[in-house]
Amino acid sequence: MEKETVWLDNEHPALRNCWHPVARSEEAKEGVPLQVELLGEFWCVVRINGELAAFPDTCPHRLASLSAGSVVDGTLQCGYHGYRYAMDGTCVRIPAQSPSLPIPPRANCQMAVDIQDHLGLVWLAPEPPLVGLPEVPEHNDPNFVNCPLEPWEWNAGAAQMADNFLDLAHFPFLHLETFGVTDDEQVADYEVERSEHSVRVQYSHTTKALSDSMGVDGEFTSIERNDLFVFTPPHHVYIYIDYADEGAVLAISFAHQPVNASTTRLFCTNYRNDIEDTADARIEATKFQLAVGAEDKALLERCHVKAIPLDQRYEVHTKADRLTLEMRRILIDVVQTVSK
Ligand code: FES
Ligand SMILES: [Fe+2]
Repeated sequence: MEKETVWLDNEHPALRNCWHPVARSEEAKEGVPLQVELLGEFWCVVRINGELAAFPDTCPHRLASLSAGSVVDGTLQCGYHGYRYAMDGTCVRIPAQSPSLPIPPRANCQMAVDIQDHLGLVWLAPEPPLVGLPEVPEHNDPNFVNCPLEPWEWNAGAAQMADNFLDLAHFPFLHLETFGVTDDEQVADYEVERSEHSVRVQYSHTTKALSDSMGVDGEFTSIERNDLFVFTPPHHVYIYIDYADEGAVLAISFAHQPVNASTTRLFCTNYRNDIEDTADARIEATKFQLAVGAEDKALLERCHVKAIPLDQRYEVHTKADRLTLEMRRILIDVVQTVSK
C-alpha cells in the first residue's frame, strides 16, 4: 500500500482540497502582505479593499518571496523587480520591458482557489474544497463571550490534535491536574451520529466542577457534564460543554493550521455564557483552556509519529474509541475522494 494511503500527516496531498485556517483575520491587515505556511508550502496572503487573495509566495520571475513585496495601486508588487499582480494572479506590469510588449502568460501566479474570513480567522483552500467551512453557532451569539487564545504552535500533526480533542478516554489520566476525575475511567456507551462529512456525539460524564478545574488542591466537587462533540474534516473540532449544575456553558472551537510535517498552529476559541465581556474576564476564562491544552500538548509532542494511520490495523480500537474511529473513516473518505 502507498505510504500516503496509510498515514495522514500535515503534508498529505489530499489536504490541498480542504479548508484550513492560516491566520487570525486581524493578522491579514489591509495592504500588508502576510506570509503563511500551510501543508509545507508558503503563501502570500493579501487584503486589498477588504478582499482577500492568496498568492503563492514565490514570484514567477526569479522566485522571490512575494510577501516581501508591497501593495501598489490595488496590485501586489514584487519587491525584487517590481512585477505587479492583480488579485486574480494576472501579471499586469513588467517594469523592465516596454509596455508595448506582451506579458508572457507564465508570469501569472497560480492562486489558491479560495480564501475567506470565517470565525475570526482567515481560511485558505489551495484546491477546490470537498467539504464546507465548519460552523460554530456561538461565534455570533450575543449571549456568549468570545475568548480567543493566542495562536499556539504545537510540534504535532493536526489530525493527531483533532483526534486528541475528540478522545473520550483520556480525561482521568492526562487531565487529573485540571478537570479529570478517576471516577470517569469507564467510557459509557454513546451514539455516533454520522452525516456525509461530519460526525457528532453527545456524551455525559463526570468531571470536576468548572469552578474547581483550575489549580485544584485536593478538594473539589464532582459534577455531571453533558458534552457535544462535532468533527468537521479535515481537522476542526467543536465541543459544547453544558455544566448544567453550574448554569454555565463552555463551547470550544479547535481550528488547526497544518503548517508543515512537524508543526501545527492551533487557533482555539472558548465561548462562555457565564462571564463578563471584559478583557480581564476573557483572559481569566482562557487560563483553564491553556492549562488543559498544555497537558495534551506535552503528551502529543512526545509522539514519534506526527500523523495518524488511516489503516485500522495500525492501532487498537475499542468501543470507547468509536468517535475517533469515525473521524478516521471520514478522513479516509476525503483521501479516497480526492485521489479518484
Ligand atoms: S523576482 Fe519578482 S519581479 Fe523579479
Ligand atoms: Fe485532552
